[in-house]
Amino acid sequence: MSAEDGLPTGLREQLRARLGPKGMVEEAGDIVPHLSDWRGLYHGRTPCVLRPASTVELAAAVALCHAAGVPMVPQGGNTSMSGGSVPDASGRQVVVSLARMNRLRALDPVDMTMTVEAGMVVRTVQDLAVEAGCQFPLAFGGDGTAMVGGMLSTNAGGNTTVRYGNARELTLGLEVVLPDGRVIDALRRLRKDNTGYALRQLFIGAEGTLGFITAAVLRLFPPVRDKALALCAVEAPEAALALFRRFRDRDETALRAFEYISGSAMRLVLERIEGTSLPLAGPAPHYVLIDLAASHPQAGLRGFLEAVLEEALDAGEVTDAVVAESEAQRQAIWRLREETPEAQRRAGASIKSDVSVPVSRVPELIRRCFEAMPAIVPGAEPVAIGHLGDGNIHMNLQQPPHLSAEAFMAHAEAVMNAVNEITGSLGGSFSAEHGVGRIKVKTMAKWRGGAELETMRRIRAALDPEGLMNPDVLFPPATGHRAP
Ligand code: MLT
Ligand code: ZN
Repeated sequence: MSAEDGLPTGLREQLRARLGPKGMVEEAGDIVPHLSDWRGLYHGRTPCVLRPASTVELAAAVALCHAAGVPMVPQGGNTSMSGGSVPDASGRQVVVSLARMNRLRALDPVDMTMTVEAGMVVRTVQDLAVEAGCQFPLAFGGDGTAMVGGMLSTNAGGNTTVRYGNARELTLGLEVVLPDGRVIDALRRLRKDNTGYALRQLFIGAEGTLGFITAAVLRLFPPVRDKALALCAVEAPEAALALFRRFRDRDETALRAFEYISGSAMRLVLERIEGTSLPLAGPAPHYVLIDLAASHPQAGLRGFLEAVLEEALDAGEVTDAVVAESEAQRQAIWRLREETPEAQRRAGASIKSDVSVPVSRVPELIRRCFEAMPAIVPGAEPVAIGHLGDGNIHMNLQQPPHLSAEAFMAHAEAVMNAVNEITGSLGGSFSAEHGVGRIKVKTMAKWRGGAELETMRRIRAALDPEGLMNPDVLFPPATGHRAP
């Protein structure tokens, strides 16, 4: 190996010959965007970025890296919240970008499936589905940049899980390049296919530790033909849960999203994001966004929404509410929810969590975390948003003005531990939808240790004995399978 190059002798030439000039990024300046995560928490190095244009090219490049014992880090839109898609500082890990593999391979409105490559942006999947008279329902804040490979590798959830499930539930088939370059072609678009282990489920959520997801068969649904949306002010988390139960009880199938926004999160968005305004009489301690959708054009969702909100106002669950009057207002209200991560970024550093609890325990989670977090960093404000209908709340803490970002982030572990302790005591998970990435590997040992983690390590060892795939994510360093 040439120390400067970071690659074993001869490999660079072999990769160039196989991938061609468009298939490799080698200029230092062009490599830079691939080295840091969206949140700016991790900054690594890589000898080059591979950009294969097809599964055949990727498989060949992976076989070459595997034979040379070179670690590989898959990367899509690089929007990971957990540092899951950037290389470490060794300068040995090769970043493999799936961005050029972004084709639509098939769309069948009868089977209601769409076969897409891993580098397609999630928003493009949504748009193509709509053009075909269907919908692909998975939606989340970063979906304008995030790509299908990352969406599946983290088993993304987002705003519509309450109705349609996570990425896992929306995937029928997969194509995967294994760590040694062999290809599993299981792009079947079948609702029933019980032929042994459901291998696709292993790769979904594996965060790139078992191979590269290169293409997927995604499920489509009938289009949305009727919709209604409300933003509600509520006094307490218990009222937000009562409101969720009320809507679920009246018509579970109408709910498309049921989102929670803390008063602090709303304030941050209104302060930091241009063009936003609160469409209610005044600020509230907590807010809930309710999005209803149906494929029946005369489902009467607007009337239904107003009637149930009326009951909730009478019951004291809601103190104020606005129903969107137009598509523009609907989007403006969704913006108040979706811009929170950006508002937090603009306001300084933030300690983020991505926890889930049984939905019945959400109020207790919010209350206890709101008390515990500022007790660790006095003066820091908890900023919480999330998918209340799934029990998935992001309990974040914002950098206070009197602390530098560095001094504040020094408390990250203590804050995350406190949130995880509370979550664990409520029967929850420390990692609901962002993935474990690099940021939560230590937490894996604590909360998924024992037979659960051991079984995962055995699966990893069976598919990637050399530990070449995304070596720094998911597994705690002491027990992970690192390349020698
Ligand atoms: C969201 O739901 O907006 C993101 O997943 C959460 C975050 O930035 O904490
Ligand atoms: Zn989220």
